[in-house]
Amino acid sequence: MSYSCGEESNRVLVADDEKVIREILNDFLSMEGYAVRTVENGIAALEELERRSYNLVITDLKMPKMGGLELLEQINRRGIDVLTVIMTGFGTVETAIDAMKKGAYDYILKPFKVEEVIHIVQRGLEKQQLQQENVQLRQALSIYTMSETLTRTLSLDNALEVIIDTTLKESRADLAELWLSEESSGPIARKVRRNAEACQIQVPTESLNLDEVLEHFRENRPVLYHGARAQRFFTCPTGIERLVSFVSVPLKIRMEIVGMLNAYSFTAGLRFHEGLRKVLSILADRTSSAIDNTRLFYNLQNTFQQTIQGFARAMETNDFYTHGHSDRVMQYARLIGEGIGLSEVQLSVLCTAALMHDIGKIGIPYHALNKPQKLTAEEYELFKKHPEQGRRILEPIDFLRGVIPAIYHHHEQVDGSGYPLALKGDEIPLEARILAVADTYDAMTSDRAYRRALSHEIATAELRRCSGTQFDPQIVGIFISQMEKLRKQGGISIAAASGAIL
Ligand SMILES: [Fe+2]
Ligand SMILES: [Fe+2]
Repeated sequence: MSYSCGEESNRVLVADDEKVIREILNDFLSMEGYAVRTVENGIAALEELERRSYNLVITDLKMPKMGGLELLEQINRRGIDVLTVIMTGFGTVETAIDAMKKGAYDYILKPFKVEEVIHIVQRGLEKQQLQQENVQLRQALSIYTMSETLTRTLSLDNALEVIIDTTLKESRADLAELWLSEESSGPIARKVRRNAEACQIQVPTESLNLDEVLEHFRENRPVLYHGARAQRFFTCPTGIERLVSFVSVPLKIRMEIVGMLNAYSFTAGLRFHEGLRKVLSILADRTSSAIDNTRLFYNLQNTFQQTIQGFARAMETNDFYTHGHSDRVMQYARLIGEGIGLSEVQLSVLCTAALMHDIGKIGIPYHALNKPQKLTAEEYELFKKHPEQGRRILEPIDFLRGVIPAIYHHHEQVDGSGYPLALKGDEIPLEARILAVADTYDAMTSDRAYRRALSHEIATAELRRCSGTQFDPQIVGIFISQMEKLRKQGGISIAAASGAIL
């Protein structure tokens, strides 16, 4: 075998059993700046192609051990990404055309003119470069589209679906999977798995030798293996008997490995290549940032929720009778919201509003609100200020603006006799109409300074009686039927919390 230097991006392999042809092609192509290697037959060519990547192979048709046609078939079968040019003596041109039908790029008739060979090589490599640029453009577009989608979603499940879809599409893999730790330091487990449409093969979770993969990641060794060498990553042969190619890239958040993206090929001839591994690495980087973002978002949301809950409880600490009221109103409101079919985002606004609906009571002397006797007209006017007070407290807080309408209007009544604005029917925001039912039910079924808790039956009868005057009849109906369902299922959680007799 001989070898001469040239540009790494223009590597040409010449396979011919005639020494003189090998030498001529080596000399002239090297002079043109190509990195050339020469071999004597198809088997040596195949070994060379497995060892390192080439852009183009010029192969004689008839050679001992393995001829050009069989070499071409092997190249196709093994999925080696290289252009093939067949050389043939006069008289076998039909075979050369046959070879082109099987995927050869071009053919050269012997005896050949050197300029002609150089021209074919140049043309072939230009075409290949154009194709590669197209592929890179497509991949860049795909990564861009995925990144765009990921920046728009704050749901981890959605993000993972997008990532798996893109991986399957880009790699043309038969199976793609994403492994992830629950939190940044927890153990890595398979989170999502998707088969390509035509593939039914399942690889059991326990088959993968996780330690081996992680060791590669820690030592910065790429996990891209084919055939028998890929099998070393599996402790059990189930599902991977026909494994052709396996690629895995790590997901890292602040240098910590938190997961991995895996692609499997079970299709003869479809071997993953280094370029794809690099594309998957970029996908994995984007994925890691998306996961980090969604986790930060959820942590922020949890912190926010806990702060609100803390706030609501702080509000109730001075008042034995309203202890747990906000929590229960939130649960009743959620029950109604689910019955109506509100979206998760709407439910979250509703629940936050429920937790904070009486926040305006801060600043109203609590002894004036909780006494066994009836409120004086003056005290009642003071009490009626709490929705307006709530609005003023929340207005400066940007991220709580969405809950203000529900809080401001939770004492409106559908016949227009409520406060603060005496709105009627649908003029009252839906969330406020829901809170009115949830709030009153809890007030009735809890002990108050001025009376004992009422039973569920009495409270619902009262809701029905005031349906259409104080309350939205549809919401009352939904609440009662939701409560009936809950009671049939046990209904313990809210009952235990509220002391309500359900
Ligand atoms: Fe209130
Ligand atoms: Fe209330």
